[in-house]
Amino acid sequence: MDRSSAGSPQVFKTIKEFRDWRRSVRGSLGFIATMGALHAGHLSLISRARELNDNLVVSIFVNPLQFGPKEDFGSYPRTFETDLELCRKLGVDTIFSPGTEEIYPDGKDHCTKVVPPPFLGEVLEGHFRPGFFTGVATVVSKLFEIIEPNMTIFGEKDYQQLLVVKRMVRDLNMPLLVEGGPTIRADDGLALSSRNAYLTEEQRKIAPMIHRILSDVIGQFKSEPNKLTALVEKGKQQFSKTASIDLQYLEVRDANTLEEVAAFDRKVVLLTAAKIGSVRLIDNLIATP
Ligand code: PAF
Repeated sequence: MDRSSAGSPQVFKTIKEFRDWRRSVRGSLGFIATMGALHAGHLSLISRARELNDNLVVSIFVNPLQFGPKEDFGSYPRTFETDLELCRKLGVDTIFSPGTEEIYPDGKDHCTKVVPPPFLGEVLEGHFRPGFFTGVATVVSKLFEIIEPNMTIFGEKDYQQLLVVKRMVRDLNMPLLVEGGPTIRADDGLALSSRNAYLTEEQRKIAPMIHRILSDVIGQFKSEPNKLTALVEKGKQQFSKTASIDLQYLEVRDANTLEEVAAFDRKVVLLTAAKIGSVRLIDNLIATP
């Protein structure tokens, strides 16, 4: 359905305004959580949620609680007018876009937090970004509490985040469905991310190498199913040959639990984080035997 002629979404900045609207909603409510700077990855989640629901809310909130002290909270791209127009074209009903004080009235360091279990929250991304998943789980639980959606979709690009959110919903008995949406890539394979905007022209040319190496490694899992550790090691060597990419991790894990795996005997996910200059990119590929 072409919704490009639909009216502009309503924008609510306070919890009270949003809740007043929420009480009037009939039928199912879908929800996509974002920090804005929308790209085709977000748009595919929004379109999917639009298809599945009678009503659709997108949140735009750059969450200070999930940024480390040396991370890019201040410089994170903020493109509200463009985001609003994209949401209008996709038929979003409502944007919830609170200020920091609305979400953390006593400051982000003085709020009750949701801490994911360490086996999900402190490994991989959580190891390199201490506190990140507590920041994500806390804000997402607050958004679920305010928005009361029936369902939500999180991108598989942030695979660990998707598992953290699914686990939180299960453990805290939150009454909504959480789905994963596929990673959207540029033609050269680079996974779309708001942080790609930080790449210089030269760095942008190098960045698809991350996906190329992931594909190479995962492509060999079927022919050498008992050699995952060695194959991942080979992948790390490929990274080390690309001087301008600084690999932080390349690991294969159980796709449901993030447990370490040595054999290709279940659904697995190959996850990586790498820095190109000061730009930190993450990516993953999933494979099923
Ligand atoms: O993936 C993101 O953009 C953020 O981590 C999220 C889920 C919107 C929480 O701030």
